[in-house]
Amino acid sequence: MADRLPTIWKIDPHTQAKHIILKRYLDAWLPIMTRWHGRVLYIDGFAGPGKYQEGEDGSPIIALKSALHHKASLKAELVFLFVEAVSERYLHLDGLVKEMPLPRNFTAKTIHGKFDETVTGLLNYVDEQKVRLAPAFVFIDPFGFSHTPFTLIQRFMTNPRCEVLITFMYEAINRFIDHPELPETYDALFGTNKWREVVSETNPAERRRRIHDIYKNQLEAPAGIKYIRSFEMIDSGNHTEYFLFFGTNSLTGLQKMKAAMWDVDKGGRFQFSDATANPNQPLLFEAEPNYALLKKELLGNFMGKEVSVEEIEGFVLASTPFRETHFKRQILKPMEEARPPQLKVILAKPGRKRGNFPEGTRVKFL
Ligand SMILES: C[S@@+](CC[C@H](N)C(=O)[O-])C[C@H]1O[C@@H](n2cnc3c(N)ncnc32)[C@H](O)[C@@H]1O
Repeated sequence: MADRLPTIWKIDPHTQAKHIILKRYLDAWLPIMTRWHGRVLYIDGFAGPGKYQEGEDGSPIIALKSALHHKASLKAELVFLFVEAVSERYLHLDGLVKEMPLPRNFTAKTIHGKFDETVTGLLNYVDEQKVRLAPAFVFIDPFGFSHTPFTLIQRFMTNPRCEVLITFMYEAINRFIDHPELPETYDALFGTNKWREVVSETNPAERRRRIHDIYKNQLEAPAGIKYIRSFEMIDSGNHTEYFLFFGTNSLTGLQKMKAAMWDVDKGGRFQFSDATANPNQPLLFEAEPNYALLKKELLGNFMGKEVSVEEIEGFVLASTPFRETHFKRQILKPMEEARPPQLKVILAKPGRKRGNFPEGTRVKFL
């Protein structure tokens, strides 16, 4: 797991996909968070050097630029903390950040240190002072898995307005899972010893699903995060390199992250593959969401029931992988127009057009 890369390295397509998700999300998150809070925190725990070989921006610069160039004027105090352990990368990043002219309400601090030690210090300070941590977006993007203890994520998430985006290094985690010297590291990573049950699993797909689900369940239960989404990054050899896990307690946060992830995978499988991504040969047809699957989920939940469109929207958003924009025109409309109809409008504002489902409309799934 040693990192043998130079100070700055060549970017992979899946890193670019991760950066698109990060940027799309921050573009949506920043104006919302800064509207309601006087101070907002952005922590990049494994910040990197700030640039890639061909000049592409690294995650700290993407975050700063998202705030700097935002079309909404961001009035709150915005504090950026970038933590990087390797001296040359820290110095490179620090140079880039210092060159960027920032407005008075922005503070960007580049810290030469290790993520776990640095943020433990920060959280201890917050506890000692008996103050509340400002709402924070915490990006945890390591190369490996030895320095991201679950307890730290849990500690962040005791603050209900914190959100996390975590690179869960599946390929390395799976490869070393039976290493005799690493059980304690794995216990710390997962925050449980349930991973031990997977060591004997021989079916690769099943192993992947189980490891993914143990981590997801940990984020949900002990860490108490209300909404979790994951996105799979596949390398050029067609293997899962990592899962990007997002956790939030805010339905709006979930909505915005789903929008960002759907932007990168228009088919809604929540994955990106270097093996099939070829910038010189874009696919001829854009992938479509699997509306038949969403219809099945809606029927499974609402068949025979009367519900408001708001309830349907809440279900789609919180309990399915689909977006809130995916169900009216694509599913309710054809169901109302089917012969015989599969859906009946029970209550609607006067003048509602057939096939439209504005707020306040109630329907029955027949
Ligand atoms: C995957 S790279 C980060 C890439 C960056 N987030 C981006 O998207 O542009 C991981 C970085 O973490 C740094 N690193 C390694 N161990 C660390 C630790 N314990 N704490 C903080 N940074 C660490 C590495 O030097 C490397 O630059």
